[in-house]
Amino acid sequence: MTENTIKVLLSDERKEKPQDDSLQFGKVFTDHMFVMDYMEGKGWHNPQIIPYQPITLDPACMVFHYGQTVFEGMKAYRTKDNRIVLFRPEKNFERLNQSNDRMCIPQFDEELALEGLKRLIEIEKDWVPSAPGTSLYIRPFIIATEPFLGVSASDRYKFMIILSPVGAYYKGGINPVKITVENQYVRSVKGGTGTAKTGGNYSASLKAQELAAKNGSSQVLWLDALEKKYVEEVGAMNIFFKINGEVITPMLNGSILPGVTRNSIIELLKHWNIPVSERRISIEEVFEASEKGQLEEVFGTGTAAVISPVGGLVWGDKEIVVNGNQTGELSLKLYNTLTGIQNGDIEDPFNWVQEVGMHTYA
Ligand code: COI
Repeated sequence: MTENTIKVLLSDERKEKPQDDSLQFGKVFTDHMFVMDYMEGKGWHNPQIIPYQPITLDPACMVFHYGQTVFEGMKAYRTKDNRIVLFRPEKNFERLNQSNDRMCIPQFDEELALEGLKRLIEIEKDWVPSAPGTSLYIRPFIIATEPFLGVSASDRYKFMIILSPVGAYYKGGINPVKITVENQYVRSVKGGTGTAKTGGNYSASLKAQELAAKNGSSQVLWLDALEKKYVEEVGAMNIFFKINGEVITPMLNGSILPGVTRNSIIELLKHWNIPVSERRISIEEVFEASEKGQLEEVFGTGTAAVISPVGGLVWGDKEIVVNGNQTGELSLKLYNTLTGIQNGDIEDPFNWVQEVGMHTYA
């Protein structure tokens, strides 16, 4: 057995599984989890699949004090012919290592992590729901575990993968959401941590999200930090606008998260020969397009959110309704195609989907 052999310890107990039609987002967790440790001088070691359980950590662990942590979000799907598949999982592990680089967390072996994930899912295959719009959400994350109050990179870490059967991220499912354009707070600035998937980006967004909720918005749309002029992204997703037949999404500029779903949507649009551009787009351009009747659709993209149509935008004292607050034709086509590829209902011309093999574990 080498340092990289994944040990498996199965749980004696199995939890009751929720009904597919009662699934919410991220509230229920499966019976097992993947764990791997890092220690300076030893590297990443001891990859294991063990029963899902609380972990004991020293209160001085650096993650609690300075937020040295990264995470990913991905999904496993059950196809109609009962296979379990993953969607572009290598992209998420690649991005996790990019986030690690920004947060001074050591690089891990992406192939080993993918193998650990696939074996975990094989063990938890009965937890993958099958109803439309449901999936098994996968949350890999890494935390700094050195007990030390000095501000520096930790000398030890814990890498974990936990799984949660989920329904739609937003309560309304594919129904349009209302979004407030944030004028006061900012999410990230070029050179900051915006391109990394790190917890602090999300805790820093809560204040604005609470304020937006007061006017009935489920998310905020972030503008660039310097001029508060150009659109960046939404709380839990990237954003796309269809203006006069062209689909536009803010270009990756050093402060926007490079979404895997964002990239997949751009590829799909190109495949369909629909004009798509990644460029700077100001919020003024969006509101002007709406005034001229040229703003055809707005939608967000993300692993958790999938394709989420935006039905209304609030910006200061201005408010616009997009496409009569109805899901647009393109948003629906993208949703159906993406989820169709993910569920194995539609042919996958891009080779995005990977099947999880089925071994048996004693
Ligand atoms: C995802 O889409 O998986 C994300 O990580 C967003 C999350 C903050 C809910």
